[in-house]
Amino acid sequence: MPVITNIEDLHRIYRRRVPKMFYDYAESGSWTEQTFRENVSDFADIRLRQRIAVDMAGRSTRAKMVGQDYAMPVALAPVGLCGMQSADGEIKAARAAEKFGVPFTLSTMSICSIEDVASHTAKPFWFQVYTLKDDDFMKRLFARAKDAKCSALVITVDLQIMGQRHKDVKNGLSAPPKFTLASMANLATKIPWGLEMLQTKRRFFGNIVGHAKGVSDPGSLASWTAEAFDPSLNWERIREFRSWWDGPVILKGILDEEDAKQALAVGADAIIVSNHGGRQLDGALSSIRMLPRIMDAVGDKIEVHLDSGIRSGQDVLKALALGAKGTMIGRAFVYGLGAMGQAGVTKALEVIHKELDTTMALCGERDVANLGRHNLLLPPDFDTRWT
Ligand code: GLV
Repeated sequence: MPVITNIEDLHRIYRRRVPKMFYDYAESGSWTEQTFRENVSDFADIRLRQRIAVDMAGRSTRAKMVGQDYAMPVALAPVGLCGMQSADGEIKAARAAEKFGVPFTLSTMSICSIEDVASHTAKPFWFQVYTLKDDDFMKRLFARAKDAKCSALVITVDLQIMGQRHKDVKNGLSAPPKFTLASMANLATKIPWGLEMLQTKRRFFGNIVGHAKGVSDPGSLASWTAEAFDPSLNWERIREFRSWWDGPVILKGILDEEDAKQALAVGADAIIVSNHGGRQLDGALSSIRMLPRIMDAVGDKIEVHLDSGIRSGQDVLKALALGAKGTMIGRAFVYGLGAMGQAGVTKALEVIHKELDTTMALCGERDVANLGRHNLLLPPDFDTRWT
């Protein structure tokens, strides 16, 4: 077993182990992938201020997100099809998160259903919903999440229509994979993945199949989004969804200060500054570059979280120092999941935690709550270069 010291190590193993169709699904951005790339490179544009001779004993990364106490302000993002990255992937990731003490967010587009994940975990997880046309399905989804004791609802507000990821179209992405010549040739080289997958019955979209009506191809993410998602979504409808859930509501996919103000007005408890991992509007600015403007607009009135581009504890620290109260990792944990199942997700969390803790100490801080702009060195036009 190779020594794993960073997220990129997990990425390399993941790439070898998982069928190309699912690797490509996770590793794509939309169209030219400019935003997908800049999510990462913009983090690298922020530098840290080293401080010395500060007592670094008794450090803490513990933090509250939507009123709940966690080991660090990092949640596992909702990622579709985790159960195709590794057999029973959502259960494995949820278990790793609960042991580590961070939130797991189950995607509506998961392979394991809400009920299934709830019955294989002890602590509450967060549940993610899209904004769909079918009121009955939505209401049942909310009720199922309530019955499963989910402790927060994450509503994805940036996917009324799906940004095109070329590779998914070319690969004919589906769950379970369709047997074309190309996919069979590739699957034949992924024996350990295939053997595990043969041992589970969980190979379909567990929250959709048998629950949603009128879906022409229930195995296809693309056809479901095209048919079921609500193109006429507006803020009134988001306000209505908010009123259906009596616990914390987090709106995911806010990238503009005007939308952040609207999120506040409809009564969200938190927002996630996100461009959906560069998978929706190609050409949008990175989440980290948009964060300062959104903090200025609503940061003192609503809890602001951030995702898109985080691959290290240093990235987490930079987001916190710019004001985020929480962060989400998507690909960073999926690499671990695909590489080594539950142990890989735990590894990803350990890597990020250690990086965050050590980097915080080297910045002269002992508590994540004290991180701020004073820890950063930013290009003068970091958040004003594009106006
Ligand atoms: C779905 O939300 C996706 O990004 O594939």
